[in-house]
Amino acid sequence: MKISLRTKLIVSFLAVVIVTGFVATLVGVNLIVDGMIREEQDRVRTNLNSAREIYEGELKEIKDLARLTAVRFFIKEALLKSDLEGIEEELVRIREEEHLDILTLTDKNGKVLFRASNPDVYDDSQAEDELVNMVLLEKEVVASTQIISGKELEKEGEDLAEQAYIEFIPTPMEKSRPEKEETSGMVMKAAAPVMGYDNELLGIIYAGRLLNRNYEIVDKVKDTVFKGVKYKGKDIGTVTIFQGDLRISTNVQNLDGSRAIGTRVSEEVYDQVLVEGMPWIYRAFVVNNWYITAYEPIENIKGEIIGILYVGLLEEKFTDMRNKTMGIFLGITFAGMALALIISYFLASGVLKPIKRLVYASKRLAKGDLTQRVKLTSKDEIGELAEAFNFMASSIKERDDQLKARAQQKIQESERLASLGRLAAGVAHEINNPLGAILVYSELLLEESELQDSKRENLKKIVRETIRCKEIVKGLLDFARKTEPKKEPANINEILESVLALVEKQVLFQNIKITKTLHPHLPMAMIDKTQIQQVFMNIILNAVEAMQGRGSLTISTQLLEDGQSMEIGFTDTGCGIPQEIMERLFEPFFTTKEETSGIGLGLAISYGIIKNHRGNIEVKSQVGKGTTFLIRLPVEKCD
Ligand SMILES: Nc1ncnc2c1ncn2[C@@H]1O[C@H](COP(=O)(O)OP(=O)(O)O)[C@@H](O)[C@H]1O
Ligand SMILES: [Mg+2]
Repeated sequence: MKISLRTKLIVSFLAVVIVTGFVATLVGVNLIVDGMIREEQDRVRTNLNSAREIYEGELKEIKDLARLTAVRFFIKEALLKSDLEGIEEELVRIREEEHLDILTLTDKNGKVLFRASNPDVYDDSQAEDELVNMVLLEKEVVASTQIISGKELEKEGEDLAEQAYIEFIPTPMEKSRPEKEETSGMVMKAAAPVMGYDNELLGIIYAGRLLNRNYEIVDKVKDTVFKGVKYKGKDIGTVTIFQGDLRISTNVQNLDGSRAIGTRVSEEVYDQVLVEGMPWIYRAFVVNNWYITAYEPIENIKGEIIGILYVGLLEEKFTDMRNKTMGIFLGITFAGMALALIISYFLASGVLKPIKRLVYASKRLAKGDLTQRVKLTSKDEIGELAEAFNFMASSIKERDDQLKARAQQKIQESERLASLGRLAAGVAHEINNPLGAILVYSELLLEESELQDSKRENLKKIVRETIRCKEIVKGLLDFARKTEPKKEPANINEILESVLALVEKQVLFQNIKITKTLHPHLPMAMIDKTQIQQVFMNIILNAVEAMQGRGSLTISTQLLEDGQSMEIGFTDTGCGIPQEIMERLFEPFFTTKEETSGIGLGLAISYGIIKNHRGNIEVKSQVGKGTTFLIRLPVEKCD
């Protein structure tokens, strides 16, 4: 599958943004949430401390009430006189005024004399009661939270026993207990001694408030500590007093809005707070919401753990905050992604557009449009690439133009030679017959015996010149390739040797050094021996003439790499050929040797013969240094 550069660019951009974005979100949110949790826990701890203070304040108030009642003159008097007449109403009034559930007077042994909450029941001993007992011993005011059994509560008032009675409501994660209900109650209680004038104990006043179903304290804490703030209709802070593990006073609500009395703490909290006596600060599912909670034990006067004070902060507000934070982080990530998408899109376009132009131009160039150029001015690697492309295109164009020009020239040259050949052939053909006739009749005349000697001489001249004319005509016909070669297999090396043997002895060759580098296993060529001999002869003679009797001639044969043709080379150290006459060299009658009777047919004939053999003839020359003629002939396959 082909994945475009653009996709790759965009995908890698996005990958970076997504990874960093999500990692940042994860780390950031975790850090923030951790901080928030710690802060919330600190807050709930502080809130618990405030709740504890209010609780203790409440206890102190009862303590003060007990003490102040105990020091009242009329109570002391009544005890001294053993006449309770008159004080009963007073005690009932105080109980009501001070919202006390319990206000009871005992004698100096702890035997109940009068119960303001239940005047009908008296004479029982409260000496065994923890607080009363302590006052009997210490004669000091004491106060504490206390568990009072249902039976004892009943004595203080049937309504109190009823108020204390709570049936357990099944709660998830609670610690299982065999009981199904609670009959005893938790009471904030204080006991104070009534002292005589000689500082002797006359009796004891004890006062108390039942905490079961009494919401005064928890609501007071809620109002002062949490200021009654609500979040989405729910109280943000909740407060509970537990008797043991049982919710007896709370503003945690059930789904129906009623107070969640009768539910119990989870086993975890039970173990930590009630058994271990340690505070518990953690998130917890309370009744039907998650809270960040703090629990701490409530002790009785002996230091035994009898209950729990609890505050909880609604977690929802905090979770919403966390979600909002997460949302913001994710939002930033997504915005980053969008931005990256846009930037990478434009970046990719910026990079890709010039590349596409380059690709387009390259394709056009490959199809032959050499004028293709890419206009790019950017000063980067792509700009460099475009520059290189343009340079390449113009180089190709230049070379192409040169090649075309040279090919054109070649074609023109051979066309010119061909038309010249046709002309020459026409002329030669026309002249050949009359020349034949001239020769025949001249020879006939010569045969006559009575011819004068001087006339005979003239006639002989006519015959000679006519023969010369016929030779020229034959040369012209050779050039025009009108004489069909009689081809037979021949060894080029041998032909060269035979030609050299013919000419070597001549005076002209005396000071010429001839070097031969002949290919030892040159294949046979299908040629007309006499014609090729003539070509070699012409070229060798030209070379020797160009050297004016002094120099060296190198003759070589070689098989070309393709194995299809052989090359015969003639290199002389003669005068060389000036460039301006180069293209006329093979024309018939072109010669630079007018004074030495050159007729300029040698190369023309040679050209005709070589072309007739489907060969090629080429010249390389440097004026003053020498000339090389190269003849290429096809290797004839033996068939
Ligand atoms: N090897 C050579 N060195 C220098 N010039 C040469 C050579 N071969 C041929 N030429 C030139 O080519 C011309 C044509 O040669 P050719 O056709 O043989 O005619 P000719 O020899 O009768 O002049 C010569 O006149 C000479 O100027
Ligand atoms: Mg010649």
